[in-house]
Amino acid sequence: TWTMAGFRDMEIERIRAQVGPGRVICGLSGGVDSSVAAKLIHEAIGDQLICIFVDPGILRAGEAEEVVRTFRGRFNIHLVHRDASDLFLGALAGITDPEVKRKTIGRLFVEVFEEEAAKLGGAQFLAQGTLYPDVIESVSFTGGPSVTIKSHHNVGGLPERMKMQLVEPLRELFKDEVRALGRELDIPESIVGRHPFPGPGLAIRIPGAVDREKLDLLRKVDAIYLEEIRNAGLYDAIWQAFAVLLPVRTVGVMGDGRTYDQACALRAVTSTDGMTADVFPFDFGFLNRVASRIVNEVRGINRVTYDITSKPPGTIEWE
Ligand code: XMP
Repeated sequence: TWTMAGFRDMEIERIRAQVGPGRVICGLSGGVDSSVAAKLIHEAIGDQLICIFVDPGILRAGEAEEVVRTFRGRFNIHLVHRDASDLFLGALAGITDPEVKRKTIGRLFVEVFEEEAAKLGGAQFLAQGTLYPDVIESVSFTGGPSVTIKSHHNVGGLPERMKMQLVEPLRELFKDEVRALGRELDIPESIVGRHPFPGPGLAIRIPGAVDREKLDLLRKVDAIYLEEIRNAGLYDAIWQAFAVLLPVRTVGVMGDGRTYDQACALRAVTSTDGMTADVFPFDFGFLNRVASRIVNEVRGINRVTYDITSKPPGTIEWE
């Protein structure tokens, strides 16, 4: 009978046979897929694996630290941590077009990854957390819709350019199976059960130009929202939940004074694959509690809205 433990053991043997004494480089993003791929490959070949974590400066609060603490500290995986936030934020300065943001970020991820890989002296193998749906999607791309709504940038084109062979131990799995495998590999629930997070990160949750100040503001709002969702036991019932920093200032009243601060939007959806999505029906008491915490605890935000648009016609992200 097929079991996840059996699959794990079989994949470990497959990786060993493919790689031999060679070196594997793996880009770690903090997401479920690359985390599970890295941990599995590490079980197979130990220090022949080197992970590169490029911190683009547009992650959620505490995420970069968690990646380093978990993979280097807890799993003892050889991890290169490159803080590239200055580079990314410098390149993003003044860019308002969502697609230009995506392309800029995608290009920088590849450049920084290549740079770090070169510093290590290269490798014969590149690990990727490609899933079965990714394999199918890239096949159907040629006959797919002719209108690109949003370009999704992963590390396309990288292996050919770097002349590396791919190691893709998850390419037969669906997302829920990857999570089960992650649990089998003792990866903490906070990583295995994590909501999907887009490569362009918080940059596409700040309509208009992105800067450090706005990112800090958004991180605070987002952290409160997610903390309340976890405390209410709702995290696993939601596909994705996040805050958006709106490029408008509105008038409010605080104590005896008038405020003129920024507004934010909260988003939460249910979905099975991200292609369609429904608004998550929070009860009003919950939304009320989150809104008053945000306005009271985050200086610079004086208005909170809840986005009730489904997909279609909306998209999950605002950009
Ligand atoms: P939309 O906003 O198109 O999002 O409804 C569908 C799913 O894709 C994620 N998303 C992205 N992921 N790079 C990514 O890696 C991107 O540029 C990107 N844009 C959207 C989004 O978070 C949702 O899960």
